[in-house]
Amino acid sequence: MSVIEQTNAYTMPTYGRNQIVIDKGNSATCYDENCKKYIDFSSGIGVTSMGYCNNLWADAVCEQVKKLQHTSNLFYHEPQAKLAEKLCSMSGYEKLFFANSGAEANECAIKLARKYSFDKYGKNRNTIITLVNSFHGRTLATLSATGQDVFHNYFFPFVEGFKYVKANDIADLHANLNNTVCAIMIEYIQGEGGVMALDAEFVAEIRKICDEQDILMIADEVQTGIGRTGKLFAGEYYHCKADITTTAKGLGGGLPIGVCLANQKCADVLNAGSHGSTFGGNPVICAGAVKVLEILEQDGVLESIQEKSKYLREKLSALDEVQEVSGIGLMVGIQLKSKKAPDILKACLENGLLVLTAKDRIRLLPPLTISMQELEEGLAILCKCIKQIF
Ligand SMILES: Cc1ncc(COP(=O)(O)O)c(C=O)c1O
Repeated sequence: MSVIEQTNAYTMPTYGRNQIVIDKGNSATCYDENCKKYIDFSSGIGVTSMGYCNNLWADAVCEQVKKLQHTSNLFYHEPQAKLAEKLCSMSGYEKLFFANSGAEANECAIKLARKYSFDKYGKNRNTIITLVNSFHGRTLATLSATGQDVFHNYFFPFVEGFKYVKANDIADLHANLNNTVCAIMIEYIQGEGGVMALDAEFVAEIRKICDEQDILMIADEVQTGIGRTGKLFAGEYYHCKADITTTAKGLGGGLPIGVCLANQKCADVLNAGSHGSTFGGNPVICAGAVKVLEILEQDGVLESIQEKSKYLREKLSALDEVQEVSGIGLMVGIQLKSKKAPDILKACLENGLLVLTAKDRIRLLPPLTISMQELEEGLAILCKCIKQIF
């Protein structure tokens, strides 16, 4: 049986997979089982932020796995303490909770916001406003938070208490506010929703409303966080600090982690027994994540992400077929004039480049440490496919 047959025979058919078996990788380059080379502009959907098997990250993970691979959260360990301190001091948040994925980080944010309001205002202030076209995860609560009808099917009953407001529509936001609202949850750049950055005025209005009405602002930076946009968090571009920020994907460098960061106002809301996770804050994953942050904070790394973004955007914008290049940093959406994103994706695969799609756009999330040579090589393939494919 081939790997593809074996996988299809024994795993639930939840993914529309490309018919490629990835075998190994280095930096932003990977190889399939037949040794065909691919430049990777997808990073496992924004996860392998430091590329495949970055030496510093791999050494930190390997050293830790040989020392202590797990202990329960009934005890303490150094990698968790170090990562918590580092992430809080880099981001300016007070405290965090460790989960295992983006969805779980958002579950924590939802629980935290509801308990904050429950503790202060009692039972009936529990509505969370999210945005139309958002994506917050696949658990029942985060599916409910996701403002796309296509996800609200089959799994009834969904979690109550979510309202969806049109992105960038301040009037719609105000129309949906009432005294039951405890939180407003946004992605600064809607990733799965088509790589659409929110307007600065809309974000500023959310921050203002939250301050005035003691509503918690939640920023889902699962995809946009940890250097993806050329800043530690995308909120920095908006000069905005949410009360709660969640992040995941790139933080683990390829291992599963999710984090819910809270400011002083709500850092101690989730108390003993109110939330938890068996694997959350695992030593091996934390040791790797500390290394990811150490690399990101080295001189010039965030700037180099911004430079690569500029280069990539200039090249793509110059193509006749490209209508718009959206997103910030190395989170890139490409709206084409007449060609279809899935056709380009297929042509790219044939020509040795991994890309993604989001709605009707091509989506790029290359590793943050991609070399200029790999970037140029990948761009040459992408431009060729965009020009040639009909
Ligand atoms: C903005 C955002 N939130 C949440 C999630 C869910 O993350 P995970 O798949 O790690 O649960 C994603 C995943 O794509 C995401 O992009």
